[in-house]
Amino acid sequence: MLPNSWFLPFGLDKLFKSLAAEKQRKLPVLSLEEHEKYGDTYAQYAGGLFTILTRDPRNIAALLTKQFPKFGYGPIRHNCFAPLLGDGIFTLDGSAWEHSRKLLAPIFHKPNFPAFETIEGHVQDLFSAIEANDDMNHIDLRPLIYDFTLDTATDFFLGKSTHLLKSRSESPSVPKPYDLGSTFSSAFNTAVSWTATRERFKAFYWLVNPREFRSSCSSARHSLKNMILDGIIHSRDIQHSALNDILSKLELNIYRARDELINLIFAGRDSNASLLCWVVYALAREPIIYSRLRKEVIAKLGQRQPTKKEINEMEYLDFVVHETLRLFPAVPINGRLCLGGDTTLPVGGGEDGEKPVYVPRGTLICFSTYGTHRSKKLYGEDVGEFKPERWKVKGVRERGLDYSYHPFSAGPRRCLGENYALMLTKYTVCRFVQRFEGVTSVEDEGSDWQGRIRYQIGLTMAPDDGVVVNLRP
Ligand code: HEM
Repeated sequence: MLPNSWFLPFGLDKLFKSLAAEKQRKLPVLSLEEHEKYGDTYAQYAGGLFTILTRDPRNIAALLTKQFPKFGYGPIRHNCFAPLLGDGIFTLDGSAWEHSRKLLAPIFHKPNFPAFETIEGHVQDLFSAIEANDDMNHIDLRPLIYDFTLDTATDFFLGKSTHLLKSRSESPSVPKPYDLGSTFSSAFNTAVSWTATRERFKAFYWLVNPREFRSSCSSARHSLKNMILDGIIHSRDIQHSALNDILSKLELNIYRARDELINLIFAGRDSNASLLCWVVYALAREPIIYSRLRKEVIAKLGQRQPTKKEINEMEYLDFVVHETLRLFPAVPINGRLCLGGDTTLPVGGGEDGEKPVYVPRGTLICFSTYGTHRSKKLYGEDVGEFKPERWKVKGVRERGLDYSYHPFSAGPRRCLGENYALMLTKYTVCRFVQRFEGVTSVEDEGSDWQGRIRYQIGLTMAPDDGVVVNLRP
C-alpha cells in the first residue's frame, strides 16, 4: 500500500479508486462522499486528465448553457463510444452534432408522439410476460423492463418492434417471432457494458479493447442494419416511423441511418429502462407511497386507459416520477472537455470556493447530477429520503431554472426524448398500479433501503441486484 502523501503518475490512484468502487457497485456513492469531503467543486488528476469535479448548479448552468461553445465531448468520448454508436448524436460535436440534432428533433415534435395505442400493446405484452411466471412472489422485473423499452423503441423508431416480450410469454416450441431482435439485444448488452468500462478508463480507454467488445459491437451494428432493411421491406407502418423520416433526409444512406438510429435506440431502451426500474424498485420499498399513488390513479381512471390530458393532470404520479429521477438519475455523472481555449467557471476558486475557477484548455469537467440532487444545501436534511411530496414545496420548473434539478441535462444538448420518456413511464406506471394491488420487495429492508443499494453503472444507472418483487394482482 502507498503512503498517503504518494500519488501514482497519470492520476492512476484515482482511476483505481473508482474502479474499486465500481467493483463494489458503489460508484455514485463514492462520488457523493468525495463531494462531501472536498467540496462542491474540486480538482484532481485522474485517468491521465486534469479534471474538475463539480456538483454546483451555477457551474453546471454555465457549462451546459452560457459557456456551451467552449465545451464538448471531445475525441476521447468519440473514440471510446464510436465502435458501438458510430457517428451519431451521442458521439459528435460542433456542426456534425448540430446536423444530427436537426435531423432527429422533428421526430419528437410530432403531435401524436408517442402514440398511446402503441405503448398499450407493449404494456399488455409486459403483463403477459409477468403473468407467464410461475412464481409471482419472486419475480425479477428488470430483464422484462429492458425488453419492454427495446420493444417500444424499435416500434417507434424502426416501425417494427423486436417483440422480445411476446417471445417470453410464448411456449418454447413456438418459433421466435423476430430473431434479429434477440441477436441485437444480446450483442448490444455486451457492447454497452464494455463501452461503459472503456469510458471509466478515460484517456486510457484504448487499453480496453477485447475481442468480445469488438465482436459484440459489430454484431449489434450488423443486426440493426438488417432490422432496418427488414423494416423497409416488411413494415406496414414504415411511412409513420422515424426510420422513414431519417432515410428520406439521408437520401437512403442505410449506414448513416444505422448510426443515427443506434443512438436513438440506445437512449430509448437504456434511459427509459433505468427510470422504470427505479420507479418500481422504490415503490416496492415504500408501500404507503404505492397505495397513495394507486388511489390517485384509480380515482381518476378506474381500470381504463389514460389520455395524455389525464396523465398530465395526475399530480402525485408526476411527483413520484420526478422524485425517482432526483434520487436515481439515469445519467448520474456526466462530462465535458474544455475544447475552446482557456476559460473559467463561475465558482469553485478562492479560499471560500466562491470565486471563479480557472479551466485550462483540455480540462475534463465531470459534473455529478447524482451529487447535485443529493445536496443537503439544496434539498435540506431529508435529501436522502424518497419523498414525492417535496415537489409541492418547490416544483420541477423552479428547480430546473436554478439547475438544482437537471436529470435531462439542459441547454442546446438537452435530452430530446424527455417528453417521450415521461409519457412512456407515466403511462406504464398508471397501467401497472391499475393491474397490481400491491408490489413489495422480496427482501424486508426497512426504512434504510437506500443504504443497501448496489448500483450498476453501464452508460446509464440501474439497480445491480435487479428489481426482484412480489406482485399482488
Ligand atoms: C428517463 C429517461 C431519460 C433520461 C433521464 C435522459 C437523460 C438525458 C441526458 C442527461 C442527456 C444529456 C447527455 C449528455 O449530455 O451527454 C440526454 C441526451 C439525449 N437524450 Fe435522453 N434521457 C432519457 C430518455 C431519452 C429517450 C427515451 C430518448 C429518445 C429515444 C432520449 C434521447 C436523447 C438524445 C437524442 C440525446 C442527445 C441530445 C444531444 O446531444 O443533442 N433520451 N438524455
